[in-house]
Amino acid sequence: MANETEIAKRRTFAIISHPDAGKTTLTEKFLLFAGAIQSAGAVKSNKIKKTTTSDFMEIERQRGISVASAVMSFEYRGLEITLLDTPGHKDFAEDTYRTLTAVDSVILVVDSVKGVEEQTEKLMKVCRMRNTPVIIFVNKLDREGPMLIDLMDDLEKKLDISVCPLSWPISRGQSFKGVYSLYNRSLLLFSPNKTAQDDSIAISSLDDKQLDERLTTEFASQLRDDVALVDGVYGSFNREKYLAGLQAPVFCGSALNNFGVRELLDTFITIAPTPGPRPADKRIVQPTEEAFSGFVFKIHANIDPRHRDRIAFFRVCSGKFNRGDFYHHVRSGARLRFNNPASFMGQKKEVIEEAYPGDVIGLYDRDTFKIGDTLTQGEDINFQGIPSFSPEIFRELVNTGMKSKQLEKGINQLTDEGVAQLFLMDRGRRKIVGTVGQLQFDVILYRLKNEYGAECRFEPKDFVRACWITSDDLKKLEEFCEYKADRVGYDKNGNLVFFAESEWMLKHYMEQNPGIYFHFTSDFKPNV
Ligand code: G4P
Repeated sequence: MANETEIAKRRTFAIISHPDAGKTTLTEKFLLFAGAIQSAGAVKSNKIKKTTTSDFMEIERQRGISVASAVMSFEYRGLEITLLDTPGHKDFAEDTYRTLTAVDSVILVVDSVKGVEEQTEKLMKVCRMRNTPVIIFVNKLDREGPMLIDLMDDLEKKLDISVCPLSWPISRGQSFKGVYSLYNRSLLLFSPNKTAQDDSIAISSLDDKQLDERLTTEFASQLRDDVALVDGVYGSFNREKYLAGLQAPVFCGSALNNFGVRELLDTFITIAPTPGPRPADKRIVQPTEEAFSGFVFKIHANIDPRHRDRIAFFRVCSGKFNRGDFYHHVRSGARLRFNNPASFMGQKKEVIEEAYPGDVIGLYDRDTFKIGDTLTQGEDINFQGIPSFSPEIFRELVNTGMKSKQLEKGINQLTDEGVAQLFLMDRGRRKIVGTVGQLQFDVILYRLKNEYGAECRFEPKDFVRACWITSDDLKKLEEFCEYKADRVGYDKNGNLVFFAESEWMLKHYMEQNPGIYFHFTSDFKPNV
């Protein structure tokens, strides 16, 4: 078994949340604890805020920030931690879903004032699809809002997972006193903006008189009642269930006040999984295998138009990656070598000589990679990622300039990066771009013009849904495609796609055509 010591040292995870729940603040506190940054404010929020069309530079600036903070590796207590950042903006949800394929666990931040929000639910669904272990951090307890006991119900119902509190707050808002650790039975008293580690008080049991002295009798007895209730309702933490993605331990605190954050990080490194096995199309790949393998989960173009190279973010899954060695690019069969692979320590990019399972490295590339590409030492396997989801907004791309070759190249590359999905209609003469958010269209137009010199515009389409269609009866499929010729096209891989004008009509077509299968994610088995 190769690299066991290195694998045991690694924890690769993402912090995810609905925008504004406190993801950036928590990330920053982790980096501060680890000494990877020296002062607060060093981690810029990668929030892509809704901008008007005249604000393209703002989008670019924000894109630049998100590249700088896409991966943050740091050392903590002798461990190599890799934290993958995810854009909170819902228009970039697909980017977040793909990043989740590259981690071994996640920390989900929930705003305790707002409870479970739309994006929290969606992100959790993706984690549940992959059985990713999740720790929940309930943030902003320094603000007034519902008590945690009421939130626990909300978490369990809306996130469809059993929860197990590992820390419990004593009141909240103005009267927030601190948290009691149900994990190591100690008390942490709250004082705003202080590094909390020295304020931890070990108490032998909840009957300890110190509780009444420190908290007042009223809050001490409230805590005793709460803990009795919580122990009875939620039982004890079961690590196997957590690792199987069936139970989510819950921590609480205030990221802004640095409260409960160290307890979260310390428990995280104890219970979170080390880099695990990954499913590929032909077999499961174990991290301890000798032979190197891994996959690209994100591609970022260089925002400086004079340098057209791109960074492919690559997760090592097995073996050892060596700078300068040749590797097998499974999709094209090419042998590729990387002379300047980068790691991302804190906020700095550094050239690395080697990388191990769990590591995320940046590979400079011109046009070779597509999202999902696998590199190996020779074996023809493909790692399975998050499928493409059926987009929700569609526009036709219309060339308004002279540079049709540039436009073709540009839109192909941008869709390889995963900015949007490209569909072809009318024998490839018409290009339909599908996205999950309006903002991507602005980004595409801007980048086509600035990076490829291509002038174009988008025309609205009356499609609300695209789905992949297959059938066991090819004749039937052909007939359907002829009958609906103005609503049928192909994706970039040549798979048949049907565009529906409304959800109601889609349902109607599905009922009328029982032999045709309509797929809403791209991970179906093509039969044409
Ligand atoms: P995000 O990355 O999840 O989108 O959230 P971010 O950390 O940017 O936090 C969103 C807002 O919530 C920020 O305020 C941040 O200061 C605040 N916040 C984070 N944690 C806590 C907490 O524990 N308690 C309280 N009271 N607030 C918290 P902002 O005003 O939007 O931004 P800023 O001007 O403070 O940067």
